[in-house]
Amino acid sequence: MRGIFMLKGKKILLGITGSIAAYKSALLIRGLIKAGAEVKVVMTPAGTQFVAPLTLSTLSKNEVLHHLSENDSWSNHVMLGRWADIMLIAPLSCNTLAKMSAGLCDNLLMAVYLSSTCEVVVAPAMDEDMWKHPSMQANLEKITSYGNHIIPVENGELASGLIGPGRMAEPENIIRWLEHHFSHVHDLKDKKVMITAGPTYEAIDPVRFIGNHSSGKMGIAIAQECKSRGADVTLICGPTSAAMPQGIKLVKVKSAADMLAASLASFKEADIAVMSAAVADYTIADPAEQKIKKSDSTVQLTLTRTEDILKTLGAIKKQGQLLVGFALETEHEKENALKKLASKNADMIVLNSLNDAGAGFGTDTNKISIFDKEGREFFFELKSKKEVAADIVNHIVNRLHA
Ligand code: CTP
Repeated sequence: MRGIFMLKGKKILLGITGSIAAYKSALLIRGLIKAGAEVKVVMTPAGTQFVAPLTLSTLSKNEVLHHLSENDSWSNHVMLGRWADIMLIAPLSCNTLAKMSAGLCDNLLMAVYLSSTCEVVVAPAMDEDMWKHPSMQANLEKITSYGNHIIPVENGELASGLIGPGRMAEPENIIRWLEHHFSHVHDLKDKKVMITAGPTYEAIDPVRFIGNHSSGKMGIAIAQECKSRGADVTLICGPTSAAMPQGIKLVKVKSAADMLAASLASFKEADIAVMSAAVADYTIADPAEQKIKKSDSTVQLTLTRTEDILKTLGAIKKQGQLLVGFALETEHEKENALKKLASKNADMIVLNSLNDAGAGFGTDTNKISIFDKEGREFFFELKSKKEVAADIVNHIVNRLHA
């Protein structure tokens, strides 16, 4: 349903960059205010050449900021990002997109973006060929991996006279996107969620380790999903090159022992714990202090068991805390997953089988089944890890409200 005041009380920080579509900002601000939102505007210097700050300050009833400092006083970019419920960058030019992807900070809008703790959504605007350029698509993918949302471009007449994809979404469609976003996002508001992700590395000596192929992508996608639904998220992540979402507390760890310590500290406060990390089951009994030199004889490593983090949390879980485990299996999948659910005292277990093509480590897709302690079973198709994360979080939310 679309109605008046659907955005009542929402604080929207509108970032405007240098694109001809900036002329639509006036209509966008009017629409946002009509829908009940409070709007503040930051612009890039290029943005001010397409639409006058005076027009926008009049419409938004707030000062429009476009300099990092003005009259020798510094614009507080940190507070702006904290003030907002969402930062909407519309139009997003290809230049600002590239800066967001690379983390460049050469104007106020970029300083606000980089220091924002709120969610960020962008509405790109560019010419068709620019839009289709691989670098643009790679940058979009990159900022999506940081947890930013993209409002798709629309098809139509472009500034160049060409007709094709690249037009910024119409203001009413942007407002509809925001209304939809705010109508469901807050089902994890005030919930503290901790998530473990990625592999652990167990040191053999200062230069070598035993690890595994986990990329951490599944746990990162879950962290992103929980964050976008209003949770206070702590992500405890082993070594990975995957991009981290914005606006979460990130605890970087290396070994299973580090991950255990960080998990115990975070679990005290957590309402929900999702244990998606591929934790080493064994560690080196006595890692060498210096690099081990090769010799002609064979080498034997003595491995000792690590503590099972999920099981440890299962043993100390208090009433009201929800514990979600994962099971990665190659055979007797369901049977093994159910054993783990029971032996580790989890509330739910998410099974992925390495026998399913596209599931498991390193891929951008996954195929899961969920089993819960009440004996219910849910099976899902192969999906992107982002969609799988939404399925898992939906289950968590349903349990909370059951
Ligand atoms: N897990 C953990 N700490 C460990 C080992 C596993 O917290 N030391 C957690 C994982 O994060 C996952 C679940 O336990 O949520 C199951 O992990 P998995 O690797 O599938 O199984 P294991 O319990 O290690 O058993 P096995 O390797 O024998 O299958």
